[in-house]
Amino acid sequence: MDTIVIGGGNKLHGKVRISGAKNAAVAILPAALMSTGKISLSNLPDINDVRTLIAILENLGVAIRRRGRNAVELNPSRLRGYSPPYELVKKMRASYYLMGSLLARFGRAEVPIPGGCDLGPRPIDQHLKGFAALGVDIEIEHGLIKLAVAKMRGAHIYLDVVSVGATINLMLAAAAAEGRTVLENAAKEPEIVDVANFLNAMGASIKGAGTDVIRIDGVSQFGSAEHMVIPDRIEAGTYMMAAAATGGEIVVEDVIPKHLEAVTAKLREMGVTVDVEPERIWVKRTDHLLPSDIKTFPYPGFPTDLQPLSMALLTAAEGTSIITENVFDGRFRHVDELKRMGAQIKVEGRTAVVEGGQPLSAAPVAATDLRAGAALVVAGLMARGETVLSEAEHIDRGYEQFEEKLRGLGASIKRVRSRGGIMV
Ligand code: UD1
Repeated sequence: MDTIVIGGGNKLHGKVRISGAKNAAVAILPAALMSTGKISLSNLPDINDVRTLIAILENLGVAIRRRGRNAVELNPSRLRGYSPPYELVKKMRASYYLMGSLLARFGRAEVPIPGGCDLGPRPIDQHLKGFAALGVDIEIEHGLIKLAVAKMRGAHIYLDVVSVGATINLMLAAAAAEGRTVLENAAKEPEIVDVANFLNAMGASIKGAGTDVIRIDGVSQFGSAEHMVIPDRIEAGTYMMAAAATGGEIVVEDVIPKHLEAVTAKLREMGVTVDVEPERIWVKRTDHLLPSDIKTFPYPGFPTDLQPLSMALLTAAEGTSIITENVFDGRFRHVDELKRMGAQIKVEGRTAVVEGGQPLSAAPVAATDLRAGAALVVAGLMARGETVLSEAEHIDRGYEQFEEKLRGLGASIKRVRSRGGIMV
């Protein structure tokens, strides 16, 4: 496992360009295999989850041509099968989108139960309930979800929980069902809109993405399309918080500020100066950080993916902050690691109380998942001394050139690669 070594104390300064959105890309790639034409994708983030999905598509028979670091051309006209391999699928949660897209293409899919970040229990009952409503037969055997249907038929589907994954997966399947599907209580994340735009570019008929009612009129074929992935609002939020944490001044470029309104509002509440231009956001902290209460919610609420980062940041705010995690049970595994660095945090159920203001001190810590890893890096940037973060591969699933971008902003951060247990 790789280790990241962070020297604390440098204020971040400068510009950082934001990559394409992970959570859009990991749905758009599986969606591409619904097409029998040529697909051209740009602004794909160069991250491990994208590499894994490209390997899965290749394994299923998609012809792939890379066009530099962030673009790819796909020709899914001749697929070999509908059973992606366990070894690749287990690496990431978003492989569940192969269920919806393979159903749309073949009326069949055999997908191992997906892996991904351990954020407590992450059921997929709403995905399966929706597939069943479209007429799909579902069997779960030996860790494999087997789906089969002669012809999917549109249906009214009410989601019992607001789920990004279920909303997208059902959009994928319903795009190829006969007749109209209405998805109610749908999630409204910008990534859902991006996936719907891509599907529509391939010939789908989807209206209402970005609201809580999505109407999908099924079509029988999907053709060629070109698509540019939207910017990653979570990556942008990460650098905004890192700048606020270190007391620096940075510009995040190539973002859609509207997608970051909840984050901008919270940073301003904490006394951070945030100036918004059409495609960039300036973040500057000169004063003390003020404590703040944060509650995570589905979009447009404060994103759960930035909750661990906000917690690292609030350890620097003098006074008591309360963070309530409403989206995932058990997304507080970073707390113990932050405490190793001297943070004073108490967790009760879904609530964490942060008593901030004491400087953090460097310690050996481990990334328990993707965003927890990023939060510990931000904590390391604030801490006195040299923080050594192990299990750094979690970060590579979702951040393009994380250390390089931070170094570009003046951070002292380096990767120590481990081969066969030896640090090199
Ligand atoms: C997606 C994002 C993840 C983000 C999360 C919430 C991707 C690849 N991942 O994850 O980064 O943290 O949205 O914004 O886009 N639930 C059920 N049954 C289901 C599905 C979900 O009970 O069938 C629950 C979950 O346990 C959770 C809540 O619904 O408590 C929201 O989960 P969901 O929006 O589905 O998250 P993911 O799509 O897994």
